Amino acid sequence: MRDTTHIPVLLDEVIRYLVPAPGTTVLDCTLNGGGHAAAVVAQGAKVLGIEWDPVIARAFFVNRPELAESVTVVNDSYVHLERICADHGVVPDGILFDLGLSSLHYGVSGRGFSFMRDEPLDMRFNPETNPMTASRLLNESQPEELERILREYGEEQFAGQIAAAVALSRRAAPLRTTSELVALIESAVPPWYRHRKIHYATKTFQALRVVVNDELVNVQEGVSAAIRVLRPGGRLLVISFQGVEDKIVRELFKTQSKAGVIEWVTRKTIRPTWAQIKENPRSRSAKLKIIQKL
Ligand SMILES: C[S@@+](CC[C@H](N)C(=O)[O-])C[C@H]1O[C@@H](n2cnc3c(N)ncnc32)[C@H](O)[C@@H]1O
Repeated sequence: MRDTTHIPVLLDEVIRYLVPAPGTTVLDCTLNGGGHAAAVVAQGAKVLGIEWDPVIARAFFVNRPELAESVTVVNDSYVHLERICADHGVVPDGILFDLGLSSLHYGVSGRGFSFMRDEPLDMRFNPETNPMTASRLLNESQPEELERILREYGEEQFAGQIAAAVALSRRAAPLRTTSELVALIESAVPPWYRHRKIHYATKTFQALRVVVNDELVNVQEGVSAAIRVLRPGGRLLVISFQGVEDKIVRELFKTQSKAGVIEWVTRKTIRPTWAQIKENPRSRSAKLKIIQKL
């Protein structure tokens, strides 16, 4: 996969609160092209990086040969981070999650993450281990189940209409491409909804991606595991982009804080500034939460 520009979100804030230093090891649970990892390495720390997407993981050192000495890449899901740390003999001094997908997925993956491109409806981060695709989800789910998915995971207000349109259309032929799905959504939603700033297909695409990759379960399990493996005194930073993910992280941190396992480093969620959003529009919905293990 070609290296396109994925600009790391809230980079200065991540470095300020993660405090990477020589002699420390940071676990980067969502390595991607290593935007954050490179900045961590620049502070003298080592990085154990987990990346679920096999294409991105394999291309890592092709695009970042300069990081070969300081970064270890593991192609796996961060859900398995306890085993991964044990295998590498690492007790992390700091842990970072930068959830969701990257510009590489939208731009060059060819897997249907973007409603702006005509591609197969796949949406898997790891097509080698995950048998579920967006196409299967659309063609095989009961209409009520599809409606629930769009409402719960995409907060899509026209979930019922879109699910009904999918159910009707697939009777003639299964849905296979992003363009077919976008056309169907367009036909199912009212005209005013088609002309808003946020594209009418955004929420449907988000919901399908979340379910295809089991993202909410992953976040719950991955962040819980991260708290367990973190060295006492170490910090855990989570950047989320969706309300549902942010809620899972907030609830988990609240419970663990009450239990005396962690403490908040910043009570307030950190958001990008206007200048950061202008430079990197993808950062606009980013929310950074930080805790320290006691
Ligand atoms: C927003 S990007 C991270 C960008 C990175 N911090 C940077 O600055 O270059 C999120 C990455 O997490 C990966 N990912 C998603 N779910 C994952 C999981 N369960 N385990 C490991 N990686 C995952 C995606 O494939 C994607 O490459």
